[in-house]
Amino acid sequence: MSYPYQITSLEQYKADYKKSVEEPEAFWGNIAENFQWRKKWNKVLDWNFREPKVEWFQGAKLNITENCIDRHLATMGDKPAIIWEPNNPEERVRIVTYNRLHKRVCQFAQVLKNNGVKKGDRVCIYMGMVPELAYAVLGCARIGAIHSVIFGGFSAQSIADRLYDAQAEFIVTCDGAYRGNKDIPLKSVIDDALIGNRTVKKVIVYTRTRTPVSMLKGRDVWWEDEMEHAEHQVEQNGVVSFPAEEMDAEDPLFILYTSGSTGKPKGVVHSSAGYMLWTNYTFVNVFQYKPGDVHFCTADIGWITGHSYILYGPLSAGGTSLMFEGIPTWPDAGRFWDIVDKHKVNILYTAPTAIRSLMGFGLEPLKGKDLSSLKILGTVGEPINEEAWHWYDEHVGKGKCPIVDTWWQTETGGCLISNMAGVTPAKPSWATLPMPGVQPILVDEKGEEVTEADEDGIIKGNLCIKAPWPAILRTTYGDHERCRQNYFATYENLYFTGDGALKDADGNFRITGRVDDVLNVSGHRIGTAEVENALNMHAGVVESAVVGYPHDVKGQGIYAYVIYGHMHNNDEELTRKDILQTVTRVIGPIAKPDKIQFVSGLPKTRSGKIMRRILRKIAEGETGSLGDTSTLLDPAVVDEIVKGKL
Ligand code: WT7
Repeated sequence: MSYPYQITSLEQYKADYKKSVEEPEAFWGNIAENFQWRKKWNKVLDWNFREPKVEWFQGAKLNITENCIDRHLATMGDKPAIIWEPNNPEERVRIVTYNRLHKRVCQFAQVLKNNGVKKGDRVCIYMGMVPELAYAVLGCARIGAIHSVIFGGFSAQSIADRLYDAQAEFIVTCDGAYRGNKDIPLKSVIDDALIGNRTVKKVIVYTRTRTPVSMLKGRDVWWEDEMEHAEHQVEQNGVVSFPAEEMDAEDPLFILYTSGSTGKPKGVVHSSAGYMLWTNYTFVNVFQYKPGDVHFCTADIGWITGHSYILYGPLSAGGTSLMFEGIPTWPDAGRFWDIVDKHKVNILYTAPTAIRSLMGFGLEPLKGKDLSSLKILGTVGEPINEEAWHWYDEHVGKGKCPIVDTWWQTETGGCLISNMAGVTPAKPSWATLPMPGVQPILVDEKGEEVTEADEDGIIKGNLCIKAPWPAILRTTYGDHERCRQNYFATYENLYFTGDGALKDADGNFRITGRVDDVLNVSGHRIGTAEVENALNMHAGVVESAVVGYPHDVKGQGIYAYVIYGHMHNNDEELTRKDILQTVTRVIGPIAKPDKIQFVSGLPKTRSGKIMRRILRKIAEGETGSLGDTSTLLDPAVVDEIVKGKL
């Protein structure tokens, strides 16, 4: 496999960037020639951000799995597509070649068909990080079903909400998942999520942990039985085939739920052709992937990072993707380094929160680990602080590996702002330059472009993008108006990211974090409103307000101010634990507040709006600069809250 569109010098980056902005249709049309199409497009791009409507490669037909699998078989059939490292390092590694991946994906597509799944149906996937998860995702794509993967850390209630929103009729799950020394009973969570559900017809259960599970007759079927049956259907005389469904370029490929500043999580919808192009293009360019490289993205496939840089990006490029079932700190904090050593990993892509957590264990876990295979390091998910950047550079990259700081979002499908490893310059804690085709702009509250720089030449504003790149979200599932409201209505004719950013005189960007009510806890996105809703569901909670505060390892921690009524046990500590149980039930353990402060009132304006600015300052420990509190309904509550700060 060769990548004629791989950028190899700063000059080429500049030239390609210019062309991509001046002639986007010619630029992307040319790149699209490197993929496999059933039918080529009539028009490369048609868009407006008013509706919004974005269509790339109008009229083209394809199936993404033919690009991720079939087209590699002739030359790379026996090369590893996925290297799977189990949770327990003693357990056998699994190497999935492209031939094997093809067979399994065909088989599973047949299983879906046998169970009544059709093009356009929504299939919810709730599994641990096992190769079967990849087969499930790609099997859906092969028959044109829309996959919606849900991270294993979400509760039954969260799953139920998503199943309802997507009107999903099918679920693929596991009996359980291994994560460190824990077994997580996934199927039983699904059983809870299905109480009262009226849409789900079939649940396919893969056996991983052999946890006892309830299997409901007529609804629940075993993965193994179904796959065995399908094997005879897709394999004849040693030849495996399952014809891929012909998809329109703009047919939805998947839904992925993510948190916003209001209401329930929204189902971000990505399309087939644009998403394929973008994940491939950014994978090849940002990580400077060379055929044969082992790419280790440590994310879970339940998040967008896993979709784009464990599955679709690497596989569409005929690459080798390492998939890790476990966690960085089990059996000990040297696990990542053992994996790099064992599998001769060339590219390591992880989150700042993981780096900071591993930093906390010192250098001991790195001793005796051969990391010399590493060529390129990457980070994603949150701003990386300089200390973590330098630790990563010095102790993991040994000063020899370029670090790419990739800024993007669930909604963007792939990296939008990042340096390209060794090709464009890195700048610690700066995501640096936009990818070709990406036109960032910093605006003020009114949507005017900020052009005035401070004395250091830095411009500061809210980060928007002026024109569509191929993998921009197309809609939010079932509610296009919500998509418009959320992303395209704040500023006219701009996609608003929700992030604040700085821009230096060389055009580099530094993302400073969310400017809306969205938190980023350990690289996980959580809406403050969502956490407040969960808190308010707890008996005894009268009202609550949630803000973020700086956290050494997690990036941000969750600080909850709670007005509590009658405390039946007279025990604040126990009540806090009770409240956490409710949050775990309603959303999942990832949304549990780090601090809960009981207060008798919240600072509100005369019109009843909570002054989050003040609560944020208090949580950050900046009680000296609370600003004007005179417009508050009851300024005295502020003193009380400051006194009780945790
Ligand atoms: C939010 C998106 C992109 C996949 C993982 C997260 C923050 C992401 C960076 C970075 C600073 C970053 C932003 C963004 N973010 N990458 N390199 N530097 N901030 O996807 O869950 O959709 O979260 O993560 O605030 O808006 P997500």
